[in-house]
Amino acid sequence: MYKMIIQGGQRLEGEIEVSGAKNATLPLMAASLMAGGCSTFTNVPRVNDVATACKLLTHLGASVERVGKDEIRIDASRITGHEAPYELVRTMRASVLVLGPLLARLGRARVSLPGGCAIGARPVDQHLKGLGALGVHIELDGGYIDARVDRMRGVRFCFDVSTVGGTETMLMAAVCAEGTTVLQNAACEPEVAELARVLNRMGARIEGIGTETLVIHGVRRLEPIRHEVIPDRIVAGTFMAAAAIAGGDVQIRKCPMDMLEAVADKMEACGIRIIRADDGVRVTREGPIRPVDIETFPYPGFPTDMQAQMMALLSVAEGTSVIREKIFENRFMHVLELQRMGADIRIRGNTAIVTGVPYLKGAPVMATDLRASASLVLAGLVARGTTVIDRVYHLDRGYERIEEKLNGLGANIQRVWED
Ligand code: EPZ
Repeated sequence: MYKMIIQGGQRLEGEIEVSGAKNATLPLMAASLMAGGCSTFTNVPRVNDVATACKLLTHLGASVERVGKDEIRIDASRITGHEAPYELVRTMRASVLVLGPLLARLGRARVSLPGGCAIGARPVDQHLKGLGALGVHIELDGGYIDARVDRMRGVRFCFDVSTVGGTETMLMAAVCAEGTTVLQNAACEPEVAELARVLNRMGARIEGIGTETLVIHGVRRLEPIRHEVIPDRIVAGTFMAAAAIAGGDVQIRKCPMDMLEAVADKMEACGIRIIRADDGVRVTREGPIRPVDIETFPYPGFPTDMQAQMMALLSVAEGTSVIREKIFENRFMHVLELQRMGADIRIRGNTAIVTGVPYLKGAPVMATDLRASASLVLAGLVARGTTVIDRVYHLDRGYERIEEKLNGLGANIQRVWED
């Protein structure tokens, strides 16, 4: 499998562009199943999770074509299958997002339960509870969700927790339900709002977009769409953190600052200079990194998907930071690896106490999940000596050619294959 070898110590200078958002693309691809015809998405990132989603939609009978650098065409005229098999779902838990669309289109779905993952149990109870409230009959059978319904009926449903995927499932299931559905305590992440806007352009009638209360008036059918996917705010935040940790002067194009205010606030509190421009930002750091306290929270709070990256940055700050992970119960897998590089981090439950050290030392480390692997790349950029990151397939799930992009700014990262 691929490893990454990083020689630390290079400042980053130059320009980099943010790709389309993986976490917006995946629900949009699922939603395309609801319209008989050909939908086209542009600005789609070339990452492994999108490739897995293409396989899943093809398995269900859609014809999926990647065109040029960033375009995907999905013809969902004929959906012949209703099963999302374990071997696909276990490689990408977001496969569960086809549940709502299949029920809306076919009245039938058999989707493997995603199972746990490195960052937590990640149950789907809210998805199932919400679908049940819409009148879907659900059985759990041999590790699969077996669901069927004649026609879903609108309902008022309040989520027990703020869930991005749960909100997306209920949005897609409810758009063709009979009557009106009101979702309370809905997630407000930008990717949820993007899905709702696109569903409306496909013919849905959703109100309250961007708020915690979504009102969906059922319609008979949706039409296919052509849409450009929004930029990836987490990839953008990761690039900002790279410029911050390595030092230098980096122009980040297509950086969605309107979705990154909480991240920008914390970075500026660290002493990172962020100059906003029309289509992006310029990030520089001359002085020391100052410590800050961070608590992850549903949007617009500090995103959990940037927690690991900020921990790498704060591990070389001048002082002690406290990071509280409030969304997932086990999203500190990167701590053990950062400690191998000399970071001084103590864990107390869901809290990490990060005492900055003068420098990190390059070491062999292992990626465990997508954002943990990004934090190891950042640590490698600033570490003295060589860092070798194993299992970089985690990184490739959500970052498009990250080593090429960072090398274009002056980093020294090699991707090597080792049997
Ligand atoms: C989405 O995952 C993102 N993935 C995650 O990004 C992101 O970390 C997460 O939202 C939170 O922002 C995609 O969009 C593909 P949740 P999702 O449902 O929808 C609990 C990345 O790095 N919960 O918002 O699975 C859950 O356990 C990935 O790109 C329930 O209890 O997350 C968690 O504690 C990682 N029951 C919390 O809610 C449910 O039915 C938030 O999970 C659903 C969720």
